[in-house]
Amino acid sequence: MKVEPASPAGHRSCTGTSGPDLVVNGVPAPPPADPRVSLLDFLREHLGLHGTKKGCDQGACGACTVLVDGERIVSCLALAVQCAGREVTTVEGLGGRHPLQEAFVRHDGLQCGYCTPGQICSAIGMAEEVARGVPSHVTADLTADGIALTPAELRERMSGNLCRCGAHNGIVAAIAEVHGSADA
Ligand code: FES
Ligand code: FES
Repeated sequence: MKVEPASPAGHRSCTGTSGPDLVVNGVPAPPPADPRVSLLDFLREHLGLHGTKKGCDQGACGACTVLVDGERIVSCLALAVQCAGREVTTVEGLGGRHPLQEAFVRHDGLQCGYCTPGQICSAIGMAEEVARGVPSHVTADLTADGIALTPAELRERMSGNLCRCGAHNGIVAAIAEVHGSADA
């Protein structure tokens, strides 16, 4: 997946350590001096990237999901220093015209929109997992060549991302349009 670098305009500098820079949406950023800073707080408070949302701050809601080297993680449970030398992609790095972003608009996949950045980043990572053949709890045939992103697979794989205001049907429809399979 090619991700266009976001403008560094919103990045505030932070006191760096001797570790390698994180690369956030294509822009190098020195890791924080305090190794206790979560990746979520680093993105929001140090770099001013407020697209990634803080919901539960304990790994339960998925609002803070970002991509690290293309894999989805909940950034509230990661330390920024763990991501030194790695590529972090937030919703800002998708440029606003990613096919999933456009599908979310078409399918009313958001109401308040608070969970939307995490939903979209999670769906991108999830589709990569399916393409790599990573099974889920509901994958019936673990020996099959390839996994179809059926509605059941889609719902199971996105179950870590909660929407508190009831946009789940639109979210599923948007992801299904871009990545789904008609197979039941
Ligand atoms: S804020 Fe990270 S999972 Fe809820
Ligand atoms: S759109 Fe409001 S929480 Fe999901």
